[in-house]
Amino acid sequence: MRVVVLCGGESPERDVSLASGWSVAGALLERGHEVVLVDPAAAAPVLAGPLRPGAVVAGAAVAKEPPSLADRRQLRRRLHAALTGGPVLDLLRGAERVFVALHGGWGEDGHVQALLEMAGVPFTGAGSAACAAAWHKGRAQAVLGAAGVPVAERVLWRPGAGEVPQAVRRLVAVGPVVAKPVADGSSVSVHRVDSLSQLARVAAEACSGEGELLVEPFLPGREFTVAVVGDRVLPVVEIELTTPVFDYAAKYQPGAVGEVCPARVPDDFATRLQELALRAHRALGFGGGTYSRADFRCDAGGAPMCLEVNALPGLTSASLLPRAATGAGWTYPDLVQRLMDLATR
Ligand code: DAL
Ligand code: MG
Repeated sequence: MRVVVLCGGESPERDVSLASGWSVAGALLERGHEVVLVDPAAAAPVLAGPLRPGAVVAGAAVAKEPPSLADRRQLRRRLHAALTGGPVLDLLRGAERVFVALHGGWGEDGHVQALLEMAGVPFTGAGSAACAAAWHKGRAQAVLGAAGVPVAERVLWRPGAGEVPQAVRRLVAVGPVVAKPVADGSSVSVHRVDSLSQLARVAAEACSGEGELLVEPFLPGREFTVAVVGDRVLPVVEIELTTPVFDYAAKYQPGAVGEVCPARVPDDFATRLQELALRAHRALGFGGGTYSRADFRCDAGGAPMCLEVNALPGLTSASLLPRAATGAGWTYPDLVQRLMDLATR
């Protein structure tokens, strides 16, 4: 098949996506596909290709820092231009399949998916509606709660709009909280906060005065993740944390945390997590031809709470979905081929 792999993009997770894209390209070539690797936000969008089946490519490492806000504006302009006309759009239209290896921002919130849908391009992963439903953690919480998926108490706050709201003060008074941008991935700007003064500092950094922040009680228990690929729920992965939160640095330094799959938990607990992941996947509108990864953390009593559902989970060598696939007995190229096969639209 002629496949265009879309990666990079305009989000803070741009480097993670480039690493996913190169890994996916390698697996596709191994499986006999012809590949063009495209970063629609780059000045020269075709990063590699067309690459012939069987060609070998090197991976890409994830940089330590996400791009700045100013860089993102330029990346957005280029991405928009590339996907709304010209040679990149022609390339996408000519592909038999587009493999979306973007993460975060316009790549995971439904913007890019909507453009691909309007252009009639067949692509992997969730469509625009499911992406949008999952991306805003506050609104996703309402959907998940209504579907019976447990979520922690959460308060949304737009720091640029003035005073710290009473609901946020109450949470901070009771115990440590986690503050994070309401719509971002890879734990960019996620902080554990113990006081109101610390919260003010974190808010300034996380939102640059404009974005929305989500504040929730810090959950001190174990952390798990469960992936759904089509109708198949993969084995539970436990993340053995060495930091209070599973932050950006810990996520992309190979070996920085333990990832145990299948997780060492009683069978009924693993089954419950898998059942919750599938319920979350369906409640947010992910269809059978898609995949997702739901993240959970346990409260002090050991009860799992859903933190979020990722519409385009990472596919780097250090990422969790490939780890879960190994637990299911799939190699990395097996996983990539399955994601391709699922995408029938
Ligand atoms: N947001 C990153 C890519 C993940 O969920 O794996
Ligand atoms: Mg995420």
